[in-house]
Amino acid sequence: MNLKDKVVIVTGATSGIGEACALAFGKEGAKVAITGRSQVKIDNTLHRLQQQGITAIGILADASSEEDNEKAAIETLKAFGRIDILINNAGISMRALFEELDLDVFKKVMDTNFYGSVYATKYCLPEILKNKGSIVAVSSINGYRGTPARTAYTASKYAMNGFFEALRTEVMKRGVHILVASPGFTSSNIRNNALTADGNTQGESPRQEDKMMSADTVAKHILSATLKRKRDIVLTGQGKLAVFLNKWIPGTMDSLVYKTMAKEKDSPFK
Ligand SMILES: NC(=O)c1ccc[n+]([C@@H]2O[C@H](COP(=O)([O-])OP(=O)(O)OC[C@H]3O[C@@H](n4cnc5c(N)ncnc54)[C@H](OP(=O)(O)O)[C@@H]3O)[C@@H](O)[C@H]2O)c1
Repeated sequence: MNLKDKVVIVTGATSGIGEACALAFGKEGAKVAITGRSQVKIDNTLHRLQQQGITAIGILADASSEEDNEKAAIETLKAFGRIDILINNAGISMRALFEELDLDVFKKVMDTNFYGSVYATKYCLPEILKNKGSIVAVSSINGYRGTPARTAYTASKYAMNGFFEALRTEVMKRGVHILVASPGFTSSNIRNNALTADGNTQGESPRQEDKMMSADTVAKHILSATLKRKRDIVLTGQGKLAVFLNKWIPGTMDSLVYKTMAKEKDSPFK
């Protein structure tokens, strides 16, 4: 697929993987619509895109709101006349023991990560069907393997994987491509902004962000897989190994994952 004159919506594109995708797809000639919850952050990202000569609009939209997702699709159509690719990227994480977790936090993670993808897909699908375009789900290794103290996040990513597998099969004879992209640990703001048991943000990352894959590298993989119309990608060596081992020795993986995650700074379990 040539991206010249194609139109891409990236949800949650004011930081990290979403912003890197907006830049990567824009540099290939696509017109880009970005969403986020902060006008200031949207304007900063728009400035970065425009500096690269990318035609872009920003839409203030909360991924967890059905109405905002409808507005994002309508405003993109109004500005650019078509939608070819939707990148369901907006996401938040959490870290707390389930027994201590306020259920409103659980719901917020599901509403943003899972329902956000459902709503955006619902309102963009008619255009994507018409244009035989692509839908990208930015999932996670947690879409294949659960992590203790990340129950809501894991549930949201498993739900995304199931939803997009079903939808992919539903539209398979109608020319629509659906990619489930599962990054491993990627350097971004996700862990700084992760929610704690009471819904406050964690504030700092408990992991060494500089040792992780960069958001730009993840975006390059997503761009390439979209152009090749791949079904799924799993990123980082560690991520690939986790998915492989979990398929064949899930019981051993329970112990391995427990031990590994217990070593995180300020882990809520030992
Ligand atoms: N980083 C990793 O290690 C990793 C690994 C696997 C998968 N992922 C997935 O990658 C995606 C992007 O995360 P990231 O790592 O790039 O994190 P990030 O730097 O924190 O970026 C998250 C983006 O989502 C937006 N967002 C959050 N809640 C939103 C909402 N309710 N409505 C609209 N936008 C919202 C944020 O913008 P505002 O705050 O301005 O709204 C921000 O632009 C997520 O789906 C995440 O689950 C990340």
